[in-house]
Amino acid sequence: MKSKKIAVILGSLRMDSLNRKMAKALMAVSPGSLSLEILEIGELQMYNQDMDETPPGAWTEFRDRLKGFDGLLFVTPEYNRSVPGVLKNAIDVGSRPYGKNSWDGKPGAVFSVSPGHIGGFGANHHLRQSLVFLNVPVMAQPEAYFGDAGQLFDDHGHLQTESSRDFLRNFMIAFSEWVMRNTTL
Ligand SMILES: Cc1cc2nc3c(=O)[nH]c(=O)nc-3n(C[C@H](O)[C@H](O)[C@H](O)COP(=O)(O)O)c2cc1C
Repeated sequence: MKSKKIAVILGSLRMDSLNRKMAKALMAVSPGSLSLEILEIGELQMYNQDMDETPPGAWTEFRDRLKGFDGLLFVTPEYNRSVPGVLKNAIDVGSRPYGKNSWDGKPGAVFSVSPGHIGGFGANHHLRQSLVFLNVPVMAQPEAYFGDAGQLFDDHGHLQTESSRDFLRNFMIAFSEWVMRNTTL
């Protein structure tokens, strides 16, 4: 069977982002049934409905690229107990113009990472709220709120503990099953 193409979407643009490191760690332990690629969102202009008549090239390219993926993996920090603006902007850009929702029907999962104790719970669930509206079936279990993540990676960006790697491996196996169950092709 052909592997399913998964867009990995990050909620942080920071150079040394814990979430980017986590995304790479998730990609490294993913089963072969998934083929994952980071879809960058940092160049998307702020969404403005007036611009939908003649959308910027970056919006059109993002929407077109999204349509080519079978599933979505969001890896995000929490900003002020919610979704970082850059990620919410990408969600909004992909959801429009009206009636042309590029997220529609693609199975997804949310993984939140924070140096704080709560593990980005607020961002994780606010994101789920938008995804439900956009008709993205979001994996319920296992949940992933990765807290106290400041010491998680070594200087080369690798996870320091085998138990963390096991958690990621199991998460990706469950996500792969979720994608297979929720795609028809
Ligand atoms: C504007 C802003 C708001 C933040 N709000 C929260 C928050 O609500 N909860 C939390 O756990 N961490 C919060 N943080 C800290 C981030 O979790 C931390 O900077 C984290 O490293 C960001 O993820 P990254 O390493 O992938 O960039 C906030 C950081 C910024 C810059």
